[in-house]
Amino acid sequence: MEVCAVVMAAGEGKRMHSKHSKVVHQVAGKPIVQWVADALCEAGCTEQVYIVGEKQEEVRNVLGETVAYVFQEQRLGTGHAVMQATPFLEGRSGYTIVLPGDSPMVSAKTINEALKIAEEDEEYAAVLITAEATDPTGYGRIIRNADGDVAKIVEHKDATEEERKIKEINSSMYVFKTTLLLSALGRLSAQNAQHEYYLTDTIEILIGDGYKVGAYVCDFDDTRGINNREQLMEANKIMNRRILNRLMENGVQIVDVDSTWIHSGVEIGMDTVILPGCTLLGNTSIGEDCIIGENTRLDCVQVGDGTVIDSSIATQCIIGKDCRIGPFSHIRPDSELKDHVTIGAYVEVKNSTIDDYTRARHLTYIGDSQVGKNVNFGCGTVTCNYDGQDKAGCVIEDNVFIGGNSNIVSTVVLGKDSYVAAGSTITEDVPPLGLAIGRSKQVIKEEWVARKNRLRGANFIQLDRKRSEV
Ligand code: UD1
Ligand code: MG
Repeated sequence: MEVCAVVMAAGEGKRMHSKHSKVVHQVAGKPIVQWVADALCEAGCTEQVYIVGEKQEEVRNVLGETVAYVFQEQRLGTGHAVMQATPFLEGRSGYTIVLPGDSPMVSAKTINEALKIAEEDEEYAAVLITAEATDPTGYGRIIRNADGDVAKIVEHKDATEEERKIKEINSSMYVFKTTLLLSALGRLSAQNAQHEYYLTDTIEILIGDGYKVGAYVCDFDDTRGINNREQLMEANKIMNRRILNRLMENGVQIVDVDSTWIHSGVEIGMDTVILPGCTLLGNTSIGEDCIIGENTRLDCVQVGDGTVIDSSIATQCIIGKDCRIGPFSHIRPDSELKDHVTIGAYVEVKNSTIDDYTRARHLTYIGDSQVGKNVNFGCGTVTCNYDGQDKAGCVIEDNVFIGGNSNIVSTVVLGKDSYVAAGSTITEDVPPLGLAIGRSKQVIKEEWVARKNRLRGANFIQLDRKRSEV
């Protein structure tokens, strides 16, 4: 059976008060309209046309050229929007799924259930996707006849007091027989409260032609449309909870669902624990038996099994197996930490490779550098990777020991097994097994303090004594 889809995405989204098209705002890290496209693809419908308006470039940037687009010049209502797809629909048989571009909670299951009902009975011209709303204000209401069959849809603004009491709402998601949709679209008028061509009127027209219209009643949450910031916030909360539930079903321990935010593209292995306050974004993937948190943000990070990350931020990087990160570490883009690496408090790593068992436990900056296995960074080591114009890094080979408070100025090479004395500024290569001392020699001045105090007079000697007593 031929199935295609029309998605209405030309709305200006005035109620969002945004510079951007409403349908490109994100829910759980994915643009709203991408959720719709993905649900259609998952339901097996790849022939999709999007009705786009003024901000069409933003929609095209999200969905790319795998789908078709039609520009709706004037925004004359949902019926008018679907009319723009006429050239795309003409000559097709089978079914057309119509969806609003602002409803990210739509699922492949919902689409397929409605399609199934449509295919079950030849007499159905259309199947509506409806839901029971606790507060149906603003939605179109489903009017059913004495037998319980759908008779028509009445928009809130056109509804009588009695009709407004109906809780069953139109989700604006439909399955139509394509030929009958085309025939009904040609007969729409804009004689209503909003002077718009309502797609909802096609239902009464088709029933008038003697056809039946079915309904698939689904969960209200699956139909939620987003028109303003509050609805966007609510949709994010619901979607986030669904993602967390799916992860928990797969054996991930989420300690606090209210303070944990995880994007839809994130994968997490079994027995990993996510502590409160974590934000896991993009296509982050975390292995098994990890502990992540509290208050950690990982954005497009790959984490190996058994790694512990505590109160840290990492972006676009790879962290291997059994690493210990944090607290308060910052791993920046294009960094790769191999296995058993320790990155501790106030350590920043950028665009660097760090091999197995290397440790930088405190207050260190590693930038643009290549670091071997089993290297020890003393507290306060800095790779000086910027000369004011260009960025360049150092090479630090296996088993190097760097004493505390050292500067390693690019582009030196610290040879295998070499030592750097504490407090050194290293500007030349260090040979393997060598020791580099790059600091001024210590000078001792015997009795210096006593001499200083004598010069200042007796009072100061008293003061100094008091000080030492404290
Ligand atoms: C619509 C339905 C209503 C339903 C509700 C569900 C109609 C007349 N009403 O109302 O029964 O309960 O959705 O959320 O269909 N759009 C265009 N071009 C236009 C007008 C709209 O592309 O000229 C798009 C919008 O971008 C949006 C969708 O169609 O994605 C729905 O339009 P919207 O204005 O949000 O309709 P509602 O008032 O919500
Ligand atoms: Mg709407």
